Amino acid sequence: MTSSIVSVSKETRVFPPPGEFAAAARVGSLEAYTAMYRRSIDDPAGFWGEQAAELFWFDAPKTIRQWDPPKARWFEGGTTNLAYNCLDRHVAAGAGDRTALIWEGEPGEVRRVSYAELLRETCRCADALRKLGIAAGDRVVIYMGMVPEAVIAMLACARIGAVHSVIFGGFASDAVRDRVNDAGAKLIITQDGAWRRGKIVPLWDNVEHALRSCPSVEHTVVLRRTGNPITLSPGRDVEWTDALATASSQLEAVPLPAEHPLFILYTSGTTGKPKGVMHTTGGYMVGAHVTTKYVFDLHDDDIYWCTADIGWVTGHSYIVYGPLCNRATVLMYEGAPNHPDVDRLWEMIARHRVTIFYTAPTAIRAFIRWGDEHPRKHDLSSLRLLGSVGEPINPEAWMWYRDVIGGGRCPIVDTWWQTETGAIMMAPLPGAIAAKPGSCTLPFFGIVPKILRQDGTEAAPNEGGFLVIEQPWPSMLRTVWGDDERFRETYFSRFPGKYFTGDGARRDPDGYFWVMGRVDDVVNVAGHRLGTAEIESVLVAHPDVAEAAVVGRPDELKGQALVAFVTLKAGRAPTDAVREALAEHVSAEIGKFARPDSIRFADALPKTRSGKIMRRLLGELATGQAPRGDVTTLEDISVLAALRGDDE
Ligand code: PRX
Repeated sequence: MTSSIVSVSKETRVFPPPGEFAAAARVGSLEAYTAMYRRSIDDPAGFWGEQAAELFWFDAPKTIRQWDPPKARWFEGGTTNLAYNCLDRHVAAGAGDRTALIWEGEPGEVRRVSYAELLRETCRCADALRKLGIAAGDRVVIYMGMVPEAVIAMLACARIGAVHSVIFGGFASDAVRDRVNDAGAKLIITQDGAWRRGKIVPLWDNVEHALRSCPSVEHTVVLRRTGNPITLSPGRDVEWTDALATASSQLEAVPLPAEHPLFILYTSGTTGKPKGVMHTTGGYMVGAHVTTKYVFDLHDDDIYWCTADIGWVTGHSYIVYGPLCNRATVLMYEGAPNHPDVDRLWEMIARHRVTIFYTAPTAIRAFIRWGDEHPRKHDLSSLRLLGSVGEPINPEAWMWYRDVIGGGRCPIVDTWWQTETGAIMMAPLPGAIAAKPGSCTLPFFGIVPKILRQDGTEAAPNEGGFLVIEQPWPSMLRTVWGDDERFRETYFSRFPGKYFTGDGARRDPDGYFWVMGRVDDVVNVAGHRLGTAEIESVLVAHPDVAEAAVVGRPDELKGQALVAFVTLKAGRAPTDAVREALAEHVSAEIGKFARPDSIRFADALPKTRSGKIMRRLLGELATGQAPRGDVTTLEDISVLAALRGDDE
């Protein structure tokens, strides 16, 4: 890690909430935000107890918060059910006919699912899972595309207390296998295939291949979506429609202790093995609920659209659990933003009269590249709020988003958070907090972020440092699945007793936070957080490769692009064919999104005397800079000269 982090941003523009927006907002002034924030910090038990009381509990929580770092427990003594809060609660309140999901398939079909129907389907799926032997605490992997059944599968698990682990449909077979095995999943819910840019992603083939080395899996449930031919094994595999045909549409939600595990979601860390971030029921529920309500300022007539995939945490918290808990109407889209054409999303916003739109900077940069004429062709006047998540948004992209998509009238909520945090941690409440392009502004209720120096002292205003969170919050991860020690080591050892985010940031004199990105060996490619070590271990597994180091370099479109430095085994020639084969190998093993943008061959990699690859130097080489700073620990300085000369 670098000892200090230099911020180069000179952004000074400020955009206060538009008056009309603030007048109708849930939190309509900075004073109102500040008062609520103060209360949440001064009396966390009082504040969170009240927030929790807005939801349904079979037994009310007795102790709101327990904090024995690094272990937090929230809402102890309470029993609840997240699916009940997302479905039954609204149906019981008379909102069964309200539309929960407006789903649009990539080929163009539209399906509306009411809250009552979503409840019935969730019950049937939950009952089918039970009949396949799934009980509370069992792990279920969901490896699907963006279809309503994926939401139903998640809610069905939550209903019976099964722990879901959704695996992004872009992951390849080996990545699925590793995650299934780490979670010890008993069942996989998947599809014959998923539509993506007019082509079929062969989800079932990937599962079937993975199943050869997944001993814990007893059954699969397979949804027919694309109609591509698949072969199922009777006794092990069952079709979704068959499994649900005989299942009950009225299955009571199981009362679960607040700390009952809700889901595991794998995310990248600095070692090759992905981390199974574990969230629990009560705290996650309250966090997702409250942040959705205030950050997106949800009102009854909103049509809310988050373009994330449910395979990432954004999809969990802000397509499924947060919005449904708030009785929102959620637009869900199956396919690619540029299919059949690059104006697909704008055409959909106009047709469905979307009011809230939440996407990622990488997507915004692609929209900019595709051209203003595409959004300008469509009537985007229904929009009233825009959101951004996944990586720092560059001010120019922010301004484009505001002007071209938001017509200069919609506030933008730049939301900073992580898989581990479960819910949004910093964002401008859109009716209360003035935005600055590129800043996630101020903390959400109950969140105490600090910027620390290497030695643990607090950084001065505008001084870059390490972003930590000082107090526990309800939706924080509880552990790394099966590895408490890794949990402690990763998040709580750098600054004892404080949660270390892995991000570098600064705080300006107004108290606004500016997140600069990761400080560890993790890169953020197109909003997907990837551990460089994971890609390296895949490269090294290729028969031609002796050693590999992967670094990120800034990329206009994707945030960061991957550059792989590769040393081949003796006798192997560094040809374009090998380069292509290695890129393909990474795509096949991890997924296309992890395919390196550039592969450079080298006779040796720069290492410290203790044998650690000096990624900092490689990063500088990858960005075309002359290596700066300390090279005294470099084992063999000539390696560096050779690498510099070996540009593609
Ligand atoms: O580096 C930060 C960046 O994304 C990381 C978290 O990635 P992941 O767990 O995959 O979750 C992504 C969706 C929540 C963070 O450590 N990041 C996320 N949102 C922002 C951001 N960086 C700057 N600004 C943001 N709004």
